Amino acid sequence: MGGIENPILLDLPVPIRTKRLTLRPCRAGDGRAIFEAVSESMQDFVPWLELAQGTPTLEESDEKARRFAADFILRKHLSFAIFASDRFLGMIGVYGFNWKIPSAHLGYWLRTSETGKGIMTEAARALTLYLFRHVGLRRLAILYDENNTKSVAVAKRLGFALESTSPMADIHPLTHEPTTELTFVRFHADGLDDTDVSWG
Ligand SMILES: CC(C)(COP(=O)(O)OP(=O)(O)OC[C@H]1O[C@@H](n2cnc3c(N)ncnc32)[C@H](O)[C@@H]1OP(=O)(O)O)[C@@H](O)C(=O)NCCC(=O)NCCS
Repeated sequence: MGGIENPILLDLPVPIRTKRLTLRPCRAGDGRAIFEAVSESMQDFVPWLELAQGTPTLEESDEKARRFAADFILRKHLSFAIFASDRFLGMIGVYGFNWKIPSAHLGYWLRTSETGKGIMTEAARALTLYLFRHVGLRRLAILYDENNTKSVAVAKRLGFALESTSPMADIHPLTHEPTTELTFVRFHADGLDDTDVSWG
């Protein structure tokens, strides 16, 4: 498989399902769910997430949901809302595409009340399989602050390999001190359990 000339014409069958979860593109109307989940999780998000800087408002969350939906259609960012039954659990998104390779970055967050259950590991496993097997990615990277151990653990559980350690790569949103960024990568989905994963 080679580069993708016109990603807007790329068919992306959804939702993606696992044993416990449904991942579907974020849409207008998800604002309230995002607002409630982020509000509940501010303490855990503030050190790591740009979206958690400042106090969230319902209006901003509504706007974000609509922008996520628009960016999905344009294949700019692919933002998925994660559900178990009807409960909104968090989001997982693909960004930083280079469609000529194709390659991308993965990012995610989970509302605090749903952590500690293996949900993000399950969602990231499913999306990684989808991106390599359906979209045809040849490289998927996850970038972390080196102190974000819970998040790094997701990558390690899924067999992503540490590719690089970059000191002074970013600024911590609270301390304003330079941070060290870790890049974890996969070049294929081999070895990931696919038995419960389907899409379309
Ligand atoms: C990163 C983040 C999603 C990780 O959440 P998490 O709940 O630790 O991750 P998972 O959902 O994969 O769950 C793993 C935990 O559940 C436990 N677990 C329970 N059942 C499990 C299962 N079936 N499979 C795997 N883990 C399971 C694991 O032991 C682990 O707990 P531990 O950390 O106490 O060992 C969450 O901390 C978060 O949203 N942080 C803020 C946002 C952020 O930093 N994003 C990263 C930027 S890319």
